[in-house]
Amino acid sequence: MALRLVYSVGKGGVGKTTCAAALALQSARTWRTLVVSLDPAHNLGDVLGATLADSPTEQAENLWAGEIDMEAAIARYLKESAERLKQMYSYLKVINIEGYLDALRLSPGIEEYATLQAMEELIREAEPRYDILVFDTPPTGLTLRVLALPRVSLLWGERLARLRREILDKRRAVERIQGERKFVIDGAEHHLVSDEKSDAVMTELNEYVARMKRLANLQADASRCRVMPVMNADRLSLFETKRAFAALEQLGMPIGSVIVNKAGLKSTDSRTVEEIRAELRREVRTIPFIEADLCGRAAVEEFGQHIDFREWIPGHSA
Ligand SMILES: Nc1ncnc2c1ncn2[C@@H]1O[C@H](COP(=O)(O)OP(=O)(O)O)[C@@H](O)[C@H]1O
Ligand SMILES: [Mg+2]
Repeated sequence: MALRLVYSVGKGGVGKTTCAAALALQSARTWRTLVVSLDPAHNLGDVLGATLADSPTEQAENLWAGEIDMEAAIARYLKESAERLKQMYSYLKVINIEGYLDALRLSPGIEEYATLQAMEELIREAEPRYDILVFDTPPTGLTLRVLALPRVSLLWGERLARLRREILDKRRAVERIQGERKFVIDGAEHHLVSDEKSDAVMTELNEYVARMKRLANLQADASRCRVMPVMNADRLSLFETKRAFAALEQLGMPIGSVIVNKAGLKSTDSRTVEEIRAELRREVRTIPFIEADLCGRAAVEEFGQHIDFREWIPGHSA
């Protein structure tokens, strides 16, 4: 079957990683499943009782897991950006690419872009190999910013493509008057391209826009993508979940039933759960607070017995 995505989303500490692991274990009974942590503060390995790496390793029959190395992802993102710039603007000696990169390294949003890039690459690589890809995500704020990026980048990409088209138009107008523009730098002859098809910048922009479009569509496709919201039975968790839902709905992302994890600790919990159900207007599944340490596959299997996690697998009616 075509690759399907599940995002485990919620505040820090509510149980996203444990739920992602439990879902992956249940999913692996039927489907080739990959679970990957995008949270820079990894603990998926601890939860699964394994040492995980940047590239997926086999954990059990049908189950693979990995932890994205964010530092490496950021370094990779910067290096690739630099190389593309150097190639495209080899004739522009005036641009100080190294200086530009130093600034980029420290610029806001770099972590989000690197996470997006890592996520997008992972989805493409996972496409032919797995049926289900489960993302264990960072706490809500960063996750929502990353999930919004494909659409934001799409708008930017389309606008930049329009600007580039205007530049090429102007170049063609100049060519009509002055003939083809050529110049020599360090003995190499350069020619200013004026048609879209042979323009490296335009090609790059078009490819980028196409990739972002594919990702934005995939994320909004209810038959292929689902958010698994995880929260605890408290009002702060409810407020944050409500805000997250508003943002996810704006992105058109399909949201599954809500997991209220660690329920039953306080005597007021069942009332809070009712409030959550009413306020979020969704199905709610509860998982009780468990005294045991939730480390290792056996413990996660047991944790998973409280609910049927296949419910969050897109296209599967449990
Ligand atoms: N139902 C539960 N009962 C008791 N402890 C839990 C439960 N679910 C998760 N935990 C514990 O809560 C902590 C945070 O869980 P984790 O899955 O890492 O959350 P997150 O990924 O959202 O930060 C861990 O120590 C985990 O073992
Ligand atoms: Mg976690």
